[in-house]
Amino acid sequence: MQADLVIVANRLPVDRVELADGTRTWRRSPGGLVTALEPVLRANDGVWIGWPGGTEQDLAPLEDDGMRLLPMSMTPEEIEGHYEGFSNATIWPLYHDLVAKPAFHREWWDSYRDVNRRFAEKAAEVAAEGGTVWIQDYQLQLVPEMLRELRPDLRIGFYLHIPFPPAELFQQLPWRRQILEGLLGADLVGFQLPGAAQNFIRLVRQRVGHKTHRDLVYLPDGRTVKAAAFPISIDAAGFEELARSESVNARAKEIREALGNPRKIFLGVDRLDYTKGIYARLRAFSELMRDDHIDVDDAVFVQVAVPSRERVEQYRVLRDEIDRLVGRINGDLGRIGRPAVSYLHSSYPREEMAALYRAADVMVVTPYRDGMNLVCKEYVACRYENDGALVLSEFAGAADELRQAWLVNPYDLNGMKSALLEAYQADHREQTRRMKAMRKTVATNDIDAWASSFLTEMANVPAEHGKQVRPLTEA
Ligand code: G6P
Repeated sequence: MQADLVIVANRLPVDRVELADGTRTWRRSPGGLVTALEPVLRANDGVWIGWPGGTEQDLAPLEDDGMRLLPMSMTPEEIEGHYEGFSNATIWPLYHDLVAKPAFHREWWDSYRDVNRRFAEKAAEVAAEGGTVWIQDYQLQLVPEMLRELRPDLRIGFYLHIPFPPAELFQQLPWRRQILEGLLGADLVGFQLPGAAQNFIRLVRQRVGHKTHRDLVYLPDGRTVKAAAFPISIDAAGFEELARSESVNARAKEIREALGNPRKIFLGVDRLDYTKGIYARLRAFSELMRDDHIDVDDAVFVQVAVPSRERVEQYRVLRDEIDRLVGRINGDLGRIGRPAVSYLHSSYPREEMAALYRAADVMVVTPYRDGMNLVCKEYVACRYENDGALVLSEFAGAADELRQAWLVNPYDLNGMKSALLEAYQADHREQTRRMKAMRKTVATNDIDAWASSFLTEMANVPAEHGKQVRPLTEA
């Protein structure tokens, strides 16, 4: 199997799941990335290399709707060392401004390196002569360099979906130099925001000693590496279409009724992650109720927390903390049939999410640090009547684009309370003014624009680094 375009990501766009009767099957995991890359993969006869979850070994390649998928297996030790350990208990907290304390363990690093090597070897095996390989995210930062060693004929791109920290934090990492050199194997390194690209360039200059100028790194072997921002987005038209459908609107009405037809619904939707600021947000809301700014008969806060990385210690602790807080808030403030917070620890299909967005009057997205945050963009895409209010953390990448949201510092509880109250009380005109501007931004900068801008930039990589890939399918 040879492919002109190879996507390498820690996860495949399908999960391996076990049914009630014990048989195993594939389930499409919903996500923006696959929506964007599917047409490009098809147009270029591409393949996607990734892990489908679980520990099953030797899974055969499969085809999903014309997309070729190559499953990588992981052993229980690799899941512990590479995935739960180095990726999610070292890099994840370190790159998110130390919201939690990162743990540094040499065995985790070894496992991370080994898994990265296997992914690089697989990419080297399937990429056609002169092809393009696009590596995704923090779990695979060593793949670019490893792959270049094996296949110098390829064009190699890397995209980091999470923040890239300032030098002052990054330099804590015992393997800082290896990570920087790993990334420098790429021709193009993409980040969510310009500040992250600048952090990277500065670190390369200081720690690796290469010459840099603006967004370029000059390597001793004559190759140049470009670091630039490509803010990711969503399938805005797809979400709007869903939001306009009769079934979604009927479901939105049902949700409202099930909640007792409150005057206003606040909504939070996050993976259950300590970077997301769920605890502080619920506290801010509950204080507004306690102090009689909001009446429990008038409003409810619906918090959807999607289970995530449940075997990692800090995620377990967080789950217990949120469970306790929700229990306390409802115990103190709720009345029969009227909880202050309706808490759902579960994941839902896109249709149900669209219905929740249609039902929500105030969307609350308050991470301490977030690479982009797509939930706020999904909310905006679903508000086709130009109403609804978005409260958004300054520290989400999306705040750079969604300037018309009620922007908050999630560490400032009083500031957050004022913003929640303002958004709650905003009149229709004010909501419309803000939402219209945000909807224009999200409709223009959608996921197709993101993928094609990265691939167009890749096509500019000098010819000796491989042949060109067609950035987009002809519509
Ligand atoms: C974030 C990361 C992705 C990751 C996703 C889900 O969005 O940027 O790389 O796949 O979270 O996390 P999981 O650990 O379940 O893959």
